[in-house]
Amino acid sequence: MKKVLIATEKPFAPSAVDALKKVFELAEYKTIMLEKYTDKSQLIEAVSEIDALIIRSDKATSEVINAAKNLKIIVRAGAGYDNIDLEACTSKNIVAMNTPGQNSNAVAELAFAMMLYSIRNGFNGTSGTELRGKKIGIHAYGNVGKHIARIAKGFEMQVYAFDPFVKKDEIEKDEVIAIDSVEELYKKCHYISLNIPANEETKKSINYDLLSLMPANSVLVNTARKEVIDEEGLIKLMNERQDFCYLSDIAPDKKVEMEEKFESRVLFTAKKMGAQTAEANINAGLAAAEQIVSFFEKGDTKFQVNK
Ligand code: 3PG
Repeated sequence: MKKVLIATEKPFAPSAVDALKKVFELAEYKTIMLEKYTDKSQLIEAVSEIDALIIRSDKATSEVINAAKNLKIIVRAGAGYDNIDLEACTSKNIVAMNTPGQNSNAVAELAFAMMLYSIRNGFNGTSGTELRGKKIGIHAYGNVGKHIARIAKGFEMQVYAFDPFVKKDEIEKDEVIAIDSVEELYKKCHYISLNIPANEETKKSINYDLLSLMPANSVLVNTARKEVIDEEGLIKLMNERQDFCYLSDIAPDKKVEMEEKFESRVLFTAKKMGAQTAEANINAGLAAAEQIVSFFEKGDTKFQVNK
């Protein structure tokens, strides 16, 4: 009997866990749960006998991978797989997958929740501003970016996007204005929604020079990864520009300093919660479970990311 470990430091909604367990029950696999663990040693111990692993932002390091002697597949129930050591997987013949698009509506909705909370001054009764008519720049037009565009149009915002990996006509068919350079996007837009992955090219790429291009009363919304921000550059800019707000679903390393210095101009969620909805958990969790069964039963590697 195949053993599947669901290791989620930040657990799925109970309804999602039930749905996942049903998929494995039908396939006659055993489900093992490791939720809210507090130390990596618990994960290392839990992987020792398993054939498959489902994680969220949990870190699948080489240490974890090497401790899993029977492991054949890891599925990241979500989009970003910067938490998986892909080289370690490949060297041990382990297939790594993600579940693209399954949680992206939840992430996009949170971006708007953060924007609205911020421009209405934390709902404190004072006069705020509106989204309607403002320019939003979507930095990377992937699954989350597309949902951001759809929702932004509902707010009657002017929607722009920059993505060097997506053809202009792909963007423009959604009635979004495709921009040729990242600098131009930042120069044009009051709001920037960051939707880029964290990798060697993007780390610290959102820096002082780029952010300085943004117009007066700008808001940077980060539902991507903290690593893409050059925090020193951001702090320098926010020291110089009292009109600049930073909203992030991933607390920066310099969270305490930023909250002290900039108070209401920064907003950080308690824990990365873009994908923390029952719907997103069910979609991403079920996709992960089905991909595992399909891999073992049919050799399906469609969503493999370590090819
Ligand atoms: C993702 O990459 O899918 C999102 O950042 C959500 O991450 P989470 O599953 O840890 O909430």
